[in-house]
Amino acid sequence: MNLSPHEVASNILTQAEYSANHQLYSEAFAPTNIALCKYWGKRNSQLNLPVNDSLSISLGSFGSHTKIFCSSSSSYDAIWLNEAQVDSSSVFYQRIMKHVGLFREYLPRKTINIQTKNNMATSAGLASSASGFAALTQALANLCGFNLSKKSLSILSRLGSGSACRSIFSGFVRWHKGNDEDGMDSYAQPLDIQWPELGIGILTLINQQKKISSRDGMARTVETSQLYNSWPKQAERDIEELETAIRTHNFQKLGQTAECNALAMHATMISSNPPLLYWQSETVSAMQATWKLREQGLPVYFTMDAGPNPKLIFETKHQGIIKKEFPKVKIVQPFNHAMDK
Ligand code: PMV
Repeated sequence: MNLSPHEVASNILTQAEYSANHQLYSEAFAPTNIALCKYWGKRNSQLNLPVNDSLSISLGSFGSHTKIFCSSSSSYDAIWLNEAQVDSSSVFYQRIMKHVGLFREYLPRKTINIQTKNNMATSAGLASSASGFAALTQALANLCGFNLSKKSLSILSRLGSGSACRSIFSGFVRWHKGNDEDGMDSYAQPLDIQWPELGIGILTLINQQKKISSRDGMARTVETSQLYNSWPKQAERDIEELETAIRTHNFQKLGQTAECNALAMHATMISSNPPLLYWQSETVSAMQATWKLREQGLPVYFTMDAGPNPKLIFETKHQGIIKKEFPKVKIVQPFNHAMDK
C-alpha cells in the first residue's frame, strides 16, 4: 500500500475536529531547529520517511512567521518570501503549492496569498525549510478551520520537509522514524527537559542560496556513497548517547556526540559521487578555531547541517569568550529566549 502525500493528509483531515467558522486570514510562527543527531536518508521519498531517528533543538525566537490571506478576487496564488514576490516558475513556489494542495479542498476561498518572513539566513543550512513548512502547515490548518493535535501537525509538516516535523515543538525534540508504510508512526515529540545554561551560536559565514538542496544531497548520498551503509548504525548509537547526555545534563557528552554525528554525515556526503561538499574555506577555519579553543580548555563544539554555516554549542557561562572569538556569532539560548542576542 503506497499512499500519496495527498492520501495521507486526507486520512488525517477527514478525521480531524473541524469548525465551519473558518477565517479568511491566519498566521503562525515556528522555530527553526538544529539537529544534534541528523536525519540523513529516506526510506520513502514521497512521504519523507527517514531511515533513522533524529534529535534536534529548536531555536526559540529564530524561525519563520507566515501569514495567509484567502480571497476570491485574485485569480492566482502568490507567495512572498522576506517581502520579495516568489517567481511562480521556481522550484520553491512549486514546493509550497504542492503543500498547499494538501489543504486546497478545505480553503474558504479560491486563491491565497502567502507572506512568510524568516529571521535567519534562508537556504544556507539554517533549516529555514523546517520552520517554513511547520509555520505554513499550522497557518493552513487554522485557515481551513481544523483543530489538529501536535502529532497530526508534525506528520503533515513532514510531508512538506522532513525536518519540519520537529519544528512544531520547542526545546529538545526527537523524531521517531516509525515503521508503518503510511508514516502515521513517523512524527516528532518533545523531550520534557529544560537546559537553561545551553547556548547555541549561529555563525552566518556565507549568506547565499546553496546550489544543492538537502533533499537532492540526501538522495545522491544514499544512492552513491560507499560510506552510507555505516550511517544508520552510527545514528542509532549517537541518538541514545545524546538522549542520555541531555537527561543527565552531561555537556561534554552532548557536544562530542553532536559534533561527531555532524562530521559523520558530512563524510557520507563528501564520499558520494559526484562529491558533495557544502563547506567553504570559512567553514573549515571556524571548525579549526573551535578545536583550538577546546585544546585551550574551553568546552565548545559545533554541528552543521547541509550548508556552510556551523552552529556552536556551548554553556552560557562562556558566551563572553565565544562572542570575542567569533565576533559575527548570533547567540541563542533555546530555553531562555529573552536572552537571544
Ligand atoms: O528536511 P530537509 O529535507 O531540509 O533535510 C534536513 C537535513 C539536515 O538538515 C541536514 C539534517 C536534519 O536532521 O535537519
